[in-house]
Amino acid sequence: MNTPGARTSSVLFVCLGNICRSPTAEGVFRTLVAVEGLSDRIRIDSAGTHAYHTGESPDVRAQAAARDRGIDLSVQTARQVNVEDFTDFDYILAMDKENLYHLEAFRPPNSQARVGLFLDYAQGHEGQSVPDPYFGAKNGFAHVLDLVETAGRGLLEEIAHAMSGD
Ligand code: 4NP
Repeated sequence: MNTPGARTSSVLFVCLGNICRSPTAEGVFRTLVAVEGLSDRIRIDSAGTHAYHTGESPDVRAQAAARDRGIDLSVQTARQVNVEDFTDFDYILAMDKENLYHLEAFRPPNSQARVGLFLDYAQGHEGQSVPDPYFGAKNGFAHVLDLVETAGRGLLEEIAHAMSGD
């Protein structure tokens, strides 16, 4: 149940195409948030820096790898980052350094969003990029899941702490 007046937060995950890494991060983080009973208080979305795959479902390999861990990505569709995202979301988290470069270049001056690398929330992987599995081997998708699960736990810990008002 939604507690009246309770603090809320919002997170946008960003990669290049929004069909592999960021939809995976969205699905994983949505699951972690649901397990903690925080679905009503944390809004989650994903987008791509580029419009190459707008309207498409996640890559079938990303969907299969997520399904192996009980996560359904099938209802998500790709979209491109837009300027409103920078005022709509509290956190805008890039999968790699190139995505972060594009986000910083596009960021309007009035944005208060925390724009950064998602893996900064993964202990031992700070400052690193989530490798792009699109042109790589099939096991690249499981590696993406491992990394985003670790980072998602770290991010949720920070957000839950901030929302508790401590
Ligand atoms: P993503 O992977 O950024 O993790 O969604 C990619 C998907 C498509 C392309 C590149 C990366 N592409 O060049 O079409």
